[in-house]
Amino acid sequence: MQTECFSEKFNPNKKIDARESLLHEGFSHYQLDIDYSETDQSLLFQEFANLEEDPYASRGSNRFRRYENGIILPWKPQEIHWIPTIRRNGVNLSGYDQGKNNPEHSDMRYFNSLSERVKNSNILKDIITNDFDNTFWPTGGQNLPIYFGVHFVKLSIRSIYDKGISSPNCFHQDGEPFTFAHLVKRSCDVVGGVNYIGPIAFRDKSLKEIDRSQITKAFTLNDFLESFAVRDSVVTHHVEPISKLSNNNMLSERYMVLIDFSIMMQVI
Ligand SMILES: [Fe+2]
Repeated sequence: MQTECFSEKFNPNKKIDARESLLHEGFSHYQLDIDYSETDQSLLFQEFANLEEDPYASRGSNRFRRYENGIILPWKPQEIHWIPTIRRNGVNLSGYDQGKNNPEHSDMRYFNSLSERVKNSNILKDIITNDFDNTFWPTGGQNLPIYFGVHFVKLSIRSIYDKGISSPNCFHQDGEPFTFAHLVKRSCDVVGGVNYIGPIAFRDKSLKEIDRSQITKAFTLNDFLESFAVRDSVVTHHVEPISKLSNNNMLSERYMVLIDFSIMMQVI
């Protein structure tokens, strides 16, 4: 069976309760509904324009990224607190450890941190707090700090022979209990970049290795802040590489903001 069977026209005006979908289906595909100005939007675009190449990406991935992490205190959900960055060779970096959940990277990765400008922006704060609002935690979890990670990931290609590849390039679980993914830009002539949600049995498998009739959902993000979220313990997810249609020597790009949330516990 082909994946087209699972695709359905996305209606950005249809109200979808992301929290309810996460609770009952383990994922949600929805339009993030926050107020923002043109200045906010261009601020995000500027950050993406300045992203550094992902130093861990294999050759030909055409992937650029920044990352930074912070803490939310659930009893003060409108405040976000950024964790101090580390400084190496005059550059601010933030560490990201995915444990055993990324078959391509098992060690801590250090990425360039986000700019102060985007960290202090209302739009990023609103995205983070809105996402946090859609999470839910075990009994007692509402009294523990929540760790969040913010990834800005750009795939950028120029030739019809190029591919833009996300990591890991297979069905996977992130490790963090919740991940939210928000589209910032998808160039008109980008092809591919289809998002897939699948059962846990798909973990670490490529599209070629799975029975496509078992795919839970396939969809493509097209609009600014069109989003999806996963409850990591109950589904796998995967985004296929992007390529481009026209050999016009112009950059074709896909910009994503990914935000994950984990509980913080005292270790004695
Ligand atoms: Fe992921």
